[in-house]
Amino acid sequence: MYTEKVMEHFRNPRNMGDMPDADGVGTVGNPVCGDLMTIFIKVKDNKIADVKFKTFGCGAAIATSSMITELAKGKTLEEATKISRGDVAESLGGLPPVKMHCSNLAADGLRAAIEDYLKKKEAKK
Ligand code: FES
Repeated sequence: MYTEKVMEHFRNPRNMGDMPDADGVGTVGNPVCGDLMTIFIKVKDNKIADVKFKTFGCGAAIATSSMITELAKGKTLEEATKISRGDVAESLGGLPPVKMHCSNLAADGLRAAIEDYLKKKEAKK
């Protein structure tokens, strides 16, 4: 049901863990399956300098979180905001249709982290 790439990211997730000094944090959940994902970002010169995730969810949710951290690293905030669930799924060689919502969680989580960063930055002004 899953591509080798999905399985590989599920087995060896990249950038998993906490980031206590994160500049932006986004937590999203899916009320249907109950899965939860938190994305942390560190921003430098308008670029995502570092990104980490913590996911309580299914295998596809772990793999898509891992993949989105790889896609987001080094991108400008504008570029990172545009990463879609389709991009995440495509980079993983595809996801079964019933698992597309898992990649949604990853794309939304990253956007939520960026929004949080921008809000905090605005508040500091
Ligand atoms: Fe809900 Fe995967 S089953 S995130």
